[in-house]
Amino acid sequence: MSMQNVASPAITFTPPKRNSLKHIPGDEGWPVIGKTLEVLADPKGQVERMHAKYGPVYRSHVFGETSINMLGPEANDLLLFDKDKLFSSTHGWGPILGLLFPRGLMLLDFEEHRLHRRALSVAFKSGPMKSYLADLDRGIAVRVKQWRAQPGDMLVYPAMKQLTLDLAATSFLGAEIGPEVDEITRAFVDMVAAAVAPIRRPLPFTQMGRGVAGRKRIVAYFSKQIPIRRARGGGEDLFSQLCQATHDDGALLSTQDIIDHMSFLMMAAHDTLTSSLTSFVGELAANPEWQARLREEVKGLGIEANDPSSIDNLEKMPLSEMAFKEALRMKPPVPSMPRRAVRDFTFKGYAIPAGALVGVNPLFTHHMAEIWPDPDKFDPLRFTDEAQRNRHRFAWVPFGGGAHMCLGLHFAYMQAKCFARHFLQNLSVSLEPGYKPDWQMWPIPKPRDGLKVVLKPV
Ligand code: HEM
Repeated sequence: MSMQNVASPAITFTPPKRNSLKHIPGDEGWPVIGKTLEVLADPKGQVERMHAKYGPVYRSHVFGETSINMLGPEANDLLLFDKDKLFSSTHGWGPILGLLFPRGLMLLDFEEHRLHRRALSVAFKSGPMKSYLADLDRGIAVRVKQWRAQPGDMLVYPAMKQLTLDLAATSFLGAEIGPEVDEITRAFVDMVAAAVAPIRRPLPFTQMGRGVAGRKRIVAYFSKQIPIRRARGGGEDLFSQLCQATHDDGALLSTQDIIDHMSFLMMAAHDTLTSSLTSFVGELAANPEWQARLREEVKGLGIEANDPSSIDNLEKMPLSEMAFKEALRMKPPVPSMPRRAVRDFTFKGYAIPAGALVGVNPLFTHHMAEIWPDPDKFDPLRFTDEAQRNRHRFAWVPFGGGAHMCLGLHFAYMQAKCFARHFLQNLSVSLEPGYKPDWQMWPIPKPRDGLKVVLKPV
């Protein structure tokens, strides 16, 4: 099928009249600002208080629009799995990401989304993944050695941000990207920061203004590079893979599609990995017994510090994977996910009209005490096969689920385990006595003070 035929007719919607949502319990807060300030101040506590007062389906008003929050695994199943194709991701994420990352995969819907996802999937098959691993492994090994050479205090978050940026430059764009790397990285950092900026219009001297300017530079870079990469052929990095990727009818992706997919992929990978690897290191530091257990697992691989990591090595790190999953449970990098209802539907007895902005909340679900006893305790054993068997399949959703489930989740596990291997083989990490990191949980979990740790060579 030619892509021209599937550029699905744009779904339009009319926000429902306020009166049509009044039967749903809730509290829309102050005029204009609604509950926005409360949500920003304490996103987890605010949702928990609303849940205690109104139950698992409630009405709220944040960032200028009334929305319906739907909490718990059944809500996640309904919205994310979306078996009846009731929910638009385009019109859920659009207001947040549309200006900077228009037509990224997550911002496409239904048939058009399915076809683009298929075309992009070639870049995540085992061949290209092996090559990304080689790039990630080299980059991580060098950086961890630098950390080992300067033991003592370190702020994890900025160090991790720099590491994921540098890794993305090689695994996404190719080692030969050259002197433009700094400019591209800066443009990209501006776009990512703008995605969650409170002022949503690209006014001069605002984050959004810088983000939109960053997008222009990124578009110019990719537009220039696509014909060069196509003419050259080959290339193991993700960008080169997309330059050769085709739709079902054999047609190459258009230049604009590659630009939109590349920008979105880099954004989707960057903040999520920075956040999750930071919380992973924070949990290792706070839980020395688990740190020692994982180090034993790495020792058991029988590889020397200078040996490269293979896929086979990473498959033999189940405890490290469980620990990373537990870090994702405690601090999901995407703490809430929006959708827009395209048709009327009913949930838990409430009729919700077409056009309503609805959302699920992994951060809440991941701390439900009836599913996760002692939810603030770090316990990777929650992810043994046995423990998972009796749990609702949408009780743990850091990567979403259904048609939009994270396309990069294996990439994320690969980077996390490769990082764990080098880090634990070289360093031990601890917190100063009495220090409790202070996390901001929304829009993306991030330690306010950077997360102070002490590193020692092992
Ligand atoms: C720990 C790291 C990551 C987390 C927690 C994460 C989380 C998520 C979530 C929750 C979604 C779905 C959002 C929704 O349905 O509304 C998503 C989608 C996506 N992610 Fe990730 N992500 C991570 C890493 C990555 C990486 C490394 C890549 C690329 C290399 C990536 C690429 C994507 C793409 C392309 C989508 C859109 C999929 C679609 O709409 O079909 N992500 N991610």
